[in-house]
Amino acid sequence: MAFTIAIDGPAAAGKGTISKAVAAHFGFAHLDTGLLYRAVGAKLLAGVDPIVAAQSLVPEDLEDPSLRTPDVAQAASKVAVIGEVRAALLDFQRAFARRAGGAVLDGRDIGTVICPRAEAKLFVTASAEVRADRRCKELIGRGIEADFDTVLADVKARDARDMERSEAPLKPAQGAVLIDTSELDIDAAIAAAIAAIEARK
Ligand code: C5P
Repeated sequence: MAFTIAIDGPAAAGKGTISKAVAAHFGFAHLDTGLLYRAVGAKLLAGVDPIVAAQSLVPEDLEDPSLRTPDVAQAASKVAVIGEVRAALLDFQRAFARRAGGAVLDGRDIGTVICPRAEAKLFVTASAEVRADRRCKELIGRGIEADFDTVLADVKARDARDMERSEAPLKPAQGAVLIDTSELDIDAAIAAAIAAIEARK
């Protein structure tokens, strides 16, 4: 039976970790939809037209390790404002969501645009400062230089672009359960997510 879990929220709120844990808990497949936009963003940085890049994306494009860098994240949020880019990525996401056996998709517009009829919807958020602090530690842990003020400015710039765009802006979907992870450790955040989904099963 198809059961779709939509998890949206801003950068570094804990969506990725929660989504992976939720997928493992329920035995569902997981798609990090940010990777699609990052793959298109990386192509833009390489000089490819982003609409052409989105229309010709192949699964191997999502495996490039450089997709996790701050420059690619900013490029991703720039290509994500383009309607044709979003349209080109729609069918793949919807097909993934309806696969038998259940699916977890995380991103910015899963509950609002991609899967408005998802069986469970979560909106995972945290203060910009907490998110910047987490992102800094994550980057440093991966050997990438990071300074708090620069990362905070990056987080805020990306939030503004994601929330103020006309195409699929970031906002809680109707019926989404809000989880603020500012004061939660990761285990508590995962437990809150699983409890919210169980309540809808
Ligand atoms: O989630 P992640 O940080 O990897 O996403 C990178 C960028 O891709 C976001 O800042 C956002 O602009 C865009 N994105 C989007 N819609 C999604 C997922 C990501 O617009 N469903």
